[in-house]
Amino acid sequence: MDLLTALDALFVEFEQALAGAASLESLEALRVDALGRKGRLARIMSRLPELAAQARPAAGQKANSVKERCTALFEERANALLAARESAALKRFDPTLPGRTPWRGSLHPTTLITEEICAVFTAMGFDIVSGPEVEHDYYNFEALNMPAAHPARDMQDTLYITGQMLLRTHTSPVQVRSMLVRRPPLSVIAPGKVYRRDSDVTHTPMFHQIEGLVVGNLINFAHLRGTLTTFVCAVFGSRTKVRFRPSFFPFTEPSAEVDISCSLCGGTGHVAGGPCRVCKATGWVEILGCGMVDPTVFAAVDYPDSVSGFAFGMGVERVAMIRYGINDLRMFFENDTRFLTQFVRG
Ligand code: PHE
Repeated sequence: MDLLTALDALFVEFEQALAGAASLESLEALRVDALGRKGRLARIMSRLPELAAQARPAAGQKANSVKERCTALFEERANALLAARESAALKRFDPTLPGRTPWRGSLHPTTLITEEICAVFTAMGFDIVSGPEVEHDYYNFEALNMPAAHPARDMQDTLYITGQMLLRTHTSPVQVRSMLVRRPPLSVIAPGKVYRRDSDVTHTPMFHQIEGLVVGNLINFAHLRGTLTTFVCAVFGSRTKVRFRPSFFPFTEPSAEVDISCSLCGGTGHVAGGPCRVCKATGWVEILGCGMVDPTVFAAVDYPDSVSGFAFGMGVERVAMIRYGINDLRMFFENDTRFLTQFVRG
């Protein structure tokens, strides 16, 4: 077959073959076979030297036009197959099938318990306030009746940034800041992060506290007791017992620590397997520190002698551990989603 006839034959056969191809894959195989680098067209054209020199340009032009027409046919056919494939997929689509529910994130237990505690206090009329985590020594210690070299500073292993600036060791500086910008009466609650140079199984260098402060005329220890008992019953259940134990904080006088009956053993100190590990068989767990604001603190913020008030501070992770029965503090910081997704808004 001479070269020009071979080119015509290639086109005719390619056209027929395309018509019979049922898939994009076989279509592509046909294209490679006919037009590919080692395909039929290339083989035919390798015979170009057989032609007389003056016949070659015409043969080259014919080859190009065959190639173009084949390519156009191929594209037309490929588009038709693609469209058919899509409409078949559309027919298979069943809009009555249930959808795939997207995975929903959940709030961290620290966030959940903070929100819950704050809600209990805002319901009692407290305002939520906040203060800086990078704090001046004055607000963290000095104004809270802990002058330089006060031994109570050792109770809180402080992370200093510069000589006077530090990462706040507790939320109590927010008490001071609130009193400096507000006049009594006031009742505020301050949730936030606090930092201490402390890291072991039961301590992390950063944890959360919630501080509370009430100042007014004739505020007394009974108000403190009533407020905190209301809080305990709201968060841990109305049958929870509350006990106030004398304690010491430089910024409160008198001071107390609050224990609640252990929610794991119900205050008995014993569980089925033996002594309760959560309360170390005592039936009680400590949840917060509190007291009547020391007059020295009121003097630092220039409040009149006539006011009195109470303050309290609690560790949020600690409250969450008791509330949710979590026995390992590290769980709060590892961000294991198997742990985190177990908590939902109560
Ligand atoms: N700031 C104290 C602490 O971190 C807790 C506390 C706050 C105690 C308010 C009494 C009053 O240990």
